[in-house]
Amino acid sequence: MSTILVTGATRGIGREVARELVNQGHNVYFGTRDLAVDTELVDDIEGIAHWLAIDTSNSDSIRAAAERFGELESQLDILINNAGIYPDQGLNILDISRERMVDTLQTNTFGPLEVVQEFLPYLTKATQPRIINVSSGLGQITGLSADNPSYCLSKLALNGITLMLAEKLKDQVAVNSVCPGWVKTDMGGENAPRSIPEGAAGILWLALEADPTLTGGFYRDGKPIEW
Ligand SMILES: NC(=O)c1ccc[n+]([C@@H]2O[C@H](COP(=O)([O-])OP(=O)(O)OC[C@H]3O[C@@H](n4cnc5c(N)ncnc54)[C@H](OP(=O)(O)O)[C@@H]3O)[C@@H](O)[C@H]2O)c1
Repeated sequence: MSTILVTGATRGIGREVARELVNQGHNVYFGTRDLAVDTELVDDIEGIAHWLAIDTSNSDSIRAAAERFGELESQLDILINNAGIYPDQGLNILDISRERMVDTLQTNTFGPLEVVQEFLPYLTKATQPRIINVSSGLGQITGLSADNPSYCLSKLALNGITLMLAEKLKDQVAVNSVCPGWVKTDMGGENAPRSIPEGAAGILWLALEADPTLTGGFYRDGKPIEW
């Protein structure tokens, strides 16, 4: 049984990944930016998993989450940096504001890095720890789109963070990026071709099945893809 934290586990891909990990018998922390989540969700996991308040756009929240986690657990086997936003509707690279760019990167890029920094003491206590950064094909060099400016940049930079962490944590923690594909969630929208379980599958593969020595890669459907 592994102890696993999934950020952004209230809905969409993160919730599916976290629920599946619970189903497979793991000790799972469902990250939520708001502990006052609806009762149905709380009832759903009460007794079999835990909520952890963690807002990836906020340093105080990330620090408090790591402290709280340390009161409950001594080690973290797998960190899944899944929380993300896509606030680019109707904007393009020529009209997006600096503030919007910063907001997106706070949640999608700087947040995941800070989560790693704060939870690293627990990760390094695990035998074969893994960090999984949920990125996107829109963060690939060939996937950049002028009509999704802050999102693309945030995931491109998240991939850079994966590479740098993999270098710095070589032989200590496996660090990889993963793209779930285009998935029918609140973010992906109705036209997306993939179901939520299909999107979750590649993340679950990296968490549970991939060779634990694989590090510094970018994966979709269990196969490496180009940066
Ligand atoms: N859907 C796709 O087609 C697709 C494609 C490629 C990559 N991805 C990536 O996959 C991940 C999950 O996406 P999704 O489609 O499941 O999105 P989603 O349905 O919109 O869910 C996003 C999750 O992130 C959480 N979140 C947002 N901002 C947060 C913050 N500041 N702190 C903590 N949690 C926060 C949300 O919490 P609240 O409920 O509190 O808002 C929610 O749980 C994201 O990183 C996304 O970029 C998705």
